[in-house]
Formats: sequence, structure tokens, C-alpha cells
Amino acid sequence: MSLLAARGARLRYVDHGKEHFAVDGVSLEVQPNEFLGILGPSGSGKSSLLYLLSGLKVPSSGQIEFDGRPLSQMDDTERSRLRLKEFGFVFQQPYLLGYLSALENVRIAEMDADNSAAAVALLNQLGLGEKLHRLPHELSGGERQRVCVARALMGNPKVIFADEPTASLDHRNGVAVVSLLNQLRGEGSLVMVTHDETMLAEADRVVRLVDGKVSD
Ligand SMILES: Nc1ncnc2c1ncn2[C@@H]1O[C@H](COP(=O)(O)OP(=O)(O)OP(=O)(O)O)[C@@H](O)[C@H]1O
Ligand SMILES: [Mg+2]
Repeated sequence: MSLLAARGARLRYVDHGKEHFAVDGVSLEVQPNEFLGILGPSGSGKSSLLYLLSGLKVPSSGQIEFDGRPLSQMDDTERSRLRLKEFGFVFQQPYLLGYLSALENVRIAEMDADNSAAAVALLNQLGLGEKLHRLPHELSGGERQRVCVARALMGNPKVIFADEPTASLDHRNGVAVVSLLNQLRGEGSLVMVTHDETMLAEADRVVRLVDGKVSD
């Protein structure tokens, strides 16, 4: 059984009275431990699809299933729990709290745990062992994104969603960040969307998205 599945998922936006399907009938499956790349040009619906798969948005029709269970059968609290405990997120911009150090920004991913050792271990693996106590403005863009990768990996999530995680980085740093995500995800699956095919060299499988639809 697949870990995560979209079944005929659509996401409708209404903009100035005009309706538009950013995701237009997508069916796909993500297997345990798989690196799935989703490739598409700007506006093809990549971010929208990730929002659906991760439960950040509710499909207008069709459904999303995690571990065989439709997200639509879960209430908001259960969906939040899923995002906090089972999912990890990396976004295009490295979102960090400016008043917390690198280490503290990683530790907040698991608020109820004595998780300092795990956070330190991850930051070490990401090459930031010497910079644990720096504030975000004392780190480079690539370093900030690696802090976000560490945070996404805390608690060994079952699925890591990465939305153009390399967009704010130069090519070399971008490749390095994807490679680290891939190496450190353990048993977790990685679903990464990008417009840049060269970032998907390590993907197990690539799905192409055009105008909200999977193309062959
Ligand atoms: N909140 C919104 N309201 C109305 N339309 C939206 C909204 N968000 C996205 N769209 C539209 O939905 C389509 C898909 O957007 P989406 O952000 O998913 O694309 P994308 O593939 O992630 O693009 P990019 O590579 O530029 O990030 C676009 O036409 C966009 O304008
Ligand atoms: Mg996007």
C-alpha cells in the first residue's frame, strides 16, 4: 500500500469571479522511502499540489490519503498533529525565527521533547556544528536553508515536503541541500517540487506537472 496518495485531487481558486483549477484531477502515489520529484514550470500548480498532499489545503474534489486514511476524515487537530509529527517541510525561502539561534530553530520542531542532542546531531551532519548558536542573520542563505532542512528532519518524519528548496540558492548549494535532504531522510519519503530538472538527479521517480495535470 502506498504511504500517501492523491486520488483525482482538484484545487479550485476563484480570482476576480473567475474560477481556475490550480490542481486539476491529479492522481499519484508516494511509496514509503521513495524520493518523488515533481517537475513543472512556474504556475503549473506545484505548490498547490504540495499543499493538498500535506493537508495544508483541502481539495475542492477528490481526496488525499495518508496510510490508507482519507485526510477528509480527520479533524483539524488530527491534521495538525499529522503535519507536526509525521511530516517535515522545507520551503523556498528559509523561514527561521530571527530571535532564535540555529539550534533553537531546529529544537522547536519538537516542542515536547528533550531533543537537544538530536538537533545538535542533525546540525553537525549538515555541517553547522560550529555555528549552533548563531542567529539567522549571522548565517549565509545556504546555511539558513540547511537549518530548515535540519528542522524538517527532526523526529524522523514519514514524509518530507520540499517546495523549491533550492530556489534561493546558487546551483552548487542547491545540489548540496537536495543531496543532504536525500541522505538524511532515513526511512522517510521525500516529495520535492521544482522547475529545475537538474535538482532531481537523485530522485527515484519524477512526475511532470503541466497546467495542474500530470503529463506523460
Ligand atoms: N491563493 C490563490 N488564489 C488564486 N489563484 C492562485 C492562488 N494561489 C495560486 N494561484 C494560481 O494557481 C496556479 C498554480 O499556482 P502554484 O503556486 O501552485 O504554481 P507553482 O507551480 O508552484 O508556481 P511557481 O513555480 O511559480 O511557484 C497559478 O495560476 C496561480 O496564479
Ligand atoms: Mg510554487
